Amino acid sequence: MKFFIDTANLDEIREANDMGILDGVTTNPSLMAKEGIIGADRILKHYVDICNIVDGDVSAEVIATDYAGMIKEGENLAALHKNIVVKIPMIKDGIKAIRYFSDKGIKTNCTLVFSAGQALLAAKAGATYLSPFIGRLDDVSQNGVDLIAQIRLIYDNYMFETQILAASVRHTMHIIQCAEVGADVMTGPLSSIKGLLNHPLTDIGLEKFLADYAKGNK
Ligand code: G3P
Repeated sequence: MKFFIDTANLDEIREANDMGILDGVTTNPSLMAKEGIIGADRILKHYVDICNIVDGDVSAEVIATDYAGMIKEGENLAALHKNIVVKIPMIKDGIKAIRYFSDKGIKTNCTLVFSAGQALLAAKAGATYLSPFIGRLDDVSQNGVDLIAQIRLIYDNYMFETQILAASVRHTMHIIQCAEVGADVMTGPLSSIKGLLNHPLTDIGLEKFLADYAKGNK
């Protein structure tokens, strides 16, 4: 299972990367705005800064919602760095754009996915990654992890190569449940990744080991 971090915060990206477990980064316009990265030039530079930290796929989202605009923007983004993945919304022109980039060998991430039907369309268009937003489904009383399991079944039935990237992950149990049902990738905040470290018995055990060592090595 690949671990991506879902942020545009360079310090958090560095911290996750330094742990040695980071496979990539996802961003979106809201995450960029949260870091105060505003204006096309700054946004493009920020993507390059992220690519210079992490040796893995970095999703960069188009703002255009028409086919021609998405192609133009996506080509500019892809030219920034070899690790850029063009992130495209799940809309009709987006599916067309995914087919275009797939035929050109440019990686894509189909975003804002909330149903199995949408997942089928993105896979048929040749998306590299598919991003179902599990936390936002949970927010509206629909089980997000169940959707990941349903898409896993469908993709396996037909050997679709599109990777299921569980997005809008909010906490550690999302990560564990996504691993159980076979998501290829999860993307979440640094807190969800670091949360996997925690167990009180680890802390108690380590404290005792160190105390016993200190007693014997005065
Ligand atoms: O990866 C998608 C993500 O950025 C959305 O997360 O927490 O805003 O639903 P959230």
